[in-house]
Amino acid sequence: MSAILEAVRPIEEYLVMSDEEIAERIETARKELGSRVVILGHHYQRDDVISHADLTGDSYQLSVMASQTDAEYIVFCGVHFMAESADILGKPQQRVILPDLGAGCSMADMATIEQVEDAWEQLREIGVLKQKVAPITYMNSSAAIKAFCGRNGGVVCTSSNAVPLFDIYLKEYDKMMFFPDQHLGRNTGAKFGIPLDKMVLWNPHDELGGNTEEDLLNAKLILWRGHCSVHGRFKPWHVDRIRKQVPDVKVLVHPECAREVVEISDFNGSTSYIINMVEKAAPGTKWAIGTEVNLVNRLAQKFPDKEIHLLAPDLCMCATMYRIAPQNLAWAMENLTAGNVVNEIVVDDETKHFALVALERMINLTEKNK
Ligand code: 13P
Ligand code: SF4
Repeated sequence: MSAILEAVRPIEEYLVMSDEEIAERIETARKELGSRVVILGHHYQRDDVISHADLTGDSYQLSVMASQTDAEYIVFCGVHFMAESADILGKPQQRVILPDLGAGCSMADMATIEQVEDAWEQLREIGVLKQKVAPITYMNSSAAIKAFCGRNGGVVCTSSNAVPLFDIYLKEYDKMMFFPDQHLGRNTGAKFGIPLDKMVLWNPHDELGGNTEEDLLNAKLILWRGHCSVHGRFKPWHVDRIRKQVPDVKVLVHPECAREVVEISDFNGSTSYIINMVEKAAPGTKWAIGTEVNLVNRLAQKFPDKEIHLLAPDLCMCATMYRIAPQNLAWAMENLTAGNVVNEIVVDDETKHFALVALERMINLTEKNK
């Protein structure tokens, strides 16, 4: 006979509880669930959520963690595309929970599978696909786009492995089409000396993405017109200003920032690269960091012996990451203790199969090149 489950507890009950009560409930539920649950937290999550995470990391590290855990439930404190990747990489019996379904990513939403397939067909019609073209997608994309890349010989990358993966694919293919972050694509292409006129921009709302056939045939890199609204807030004038205000400051930015910002910064790299740079920096050094505010504030708290500034004065917060509040986490965890799986993220089998091809390719190539 199947067990009788308690009714799903509504989120509204949690919204009126004090912060202390919420934190206590999360920890009590965690103890009750034991090794049946793992809470993963992306570095951009707020402090009151990250403090409950069993494991924290950037998007690459979290995808590897999701592929390695044996926990029955993976509670993902991050955004939708990360939870989808966890479902793809996890074991069949594992269930992935995103505590707030509104935690999406505006960049990932800038490329739909219909637009990507239409672009690919247009490239085929003008003969570009007679060349060897690799479709590569940033982790920040839907499972359907990852599956498209898996099906067409391509791969997924994150900001932490874009350089080694571009290296492999630029050698083996005539050209690459990169979705959906034009800035990560352009900044990585520039690291390989690809001139700007060989990196064309594909606007999904225009015929041939707004390019001529000749431009597309000659391009080395076709960049999708997407961007991150958080990292897009950093401007070259922020770099000039902080250099005037803070002598000897080093400017360290994420490659989702625009080319003009990355070009004049001292260093650029993924979230983990930024954390490592600050960790190993000498005491007394000064840093202006161009990435998500929760991470920058945490670094400033963790390393009081270093002077850490947010590169821009206005709030550079990822509003969708912020949607995962401790209240949502408590709600999801307590429902699990009652046997209710709320906000489950499930990728369909066909999409999962091909997205797994692209994700496993990424992990295998990244680990082999370490
Ligand atoms: P990484 O975690 O790969 O640095 O990506 C940053 C990001 O935008 C996550 O959404
Ligand atoms: Fe998406 Fe930018 Fe937020 Fe990352 S920081 S989840 S790319 S909107």
